[in-house]
Amino acid sequence: MKIQEIYNLAIKMGIEADLRGREEVEKLLRRKWEKYEEMPLKEKEEFDREALKNPYLDSRILNISEDKEIKRILVGIDIGPAEILLAKEIGNIDLIISHHPLGKGLAALHEVMEMQCDVLSKYGVPINVAEGLMKERISEVARGVNSANHQRTVDAAKLLKVNLINCHTPCDNLAANFLKNKVAETKPERIEDLMKILKEIPEYKEAVKIGAGPKIFVGHPENRCGKITVTEITGGTEGSPKLYEKMSQAGIGTVISMHQSEEHRKEAEAANINVVIAGHMSSDSLGMNLFLDELEKQGVEIVPCSGLIRVSRLPRNI
Ligand SMILES: [Fe+2]
Repeated sequence: MKIQEIYNLAIKMGIEADLRGREEVEKLLRRKWEKYEEMPLKEKEEFDREALKNPYLDSRILNISEDKEIKRILVGIDIGPAEILLAKEIGNIDLIISHHPLGKGLAALHEVMEMQCDVLSKYGVPINVAEGLMKERISEVARGVNSANHQRTVDAAKLLKVNLINCHTPCDNLAANFLKNKVAETKPERIEDLMKILKEIPEYKEAVKIGAGPKIFVGHPENRCGKITVTEITGGTEGSPKLYEKMSQAGIGTVISMHQSEEHRKEAEAANINVVIAGHMSSDSLGMNLFLDELEKQGVEIVPCSGLIRVSRLPRNI
C-alpha cells in the first residue's frame, strides 16, 4: 500500500464507525462544499481544502520523503523526534504513524470536537444546549493548542527523510464504536459488571498488568449503570464540564471515558453520573489496532512503540 491509500483507508473506516452515522457526516461535508463555493477568492486561498473531503482534520499526512510501497510501519500513540530517531536506528521502517495529532493535525484538534454536540444530542441532550456549552470549550482547546510547537516532530521527520502521518479521530471512532457495541451486546447492569467486561478486552487486560487498567472515577462497583454512553472516547478531547448536569437530565447514567480531569470528575459526581475510565493508552491502542489489522491484512508489518499495546484480531492470531 502507498501512504495515501493507508491514509484514505483510515478516513473511510473513521466515517463508517462515526457515532453520528455516515449520512450525518456526509451531510456536514456537503455543507462545507456549499460554504466553500460561496467564499470570496481571498478566503478560498486560505481555506484548507482537505476539509472538503476529510471530516477529521486532526489526522493528516505530515511528511512524504519517499512515496514508496509501505511494508513496515512504526506505530506509536505519541510520536516525537525521539521516535523518528528510533525508526532510523531500527532500520527498514517505511512509514511512522502517530495516533495523537502532530503538525497541522494538532493545530486543528478543536475542529473535530463539534461531533460531540451531535453525539450528545443523539443521547437526548438538546442540540442547542450541547452546542452552547461546547462552543466555549472548543475555543478554549483551540487557544490551548495554539501555542504548541506543532512542527517539531514533522521537522525532524523531514530532516531525517522519514515518512510520517497521524491518525487520531478515525481510530478513536473505531474504539468508541467497538465499546458501544460491546455494551449493547453484554448489557452490564452494575458498574462492577461493566468493569469485568472491559477487563476482558485484550488491550485493557494488558493495561491492568502495568497498573493502567480500567478505573472507577465516580461511583461505586455496586451502582446500577443506567444508560451507558461512550461520548468521551472520541471527539478530539474532553468536552465541557458543564455538560454532565445536562447529560444526567437527559437520562445518562454512566460515561465510559478514556481520561478525565479533576474538574470534569467533580462535575460528573455532582450530577450523579458514574464515570468509568477505561484507560488512555489502552483505549487509544484499541482504536489503532482495529485500523492496523486492516493494514496487516494487506501484508504490512506493524512495529509497535510509544505506548501502543498491539493486539491483532486477525483470525490466525486469535
Ligand atoms: Fe488519546
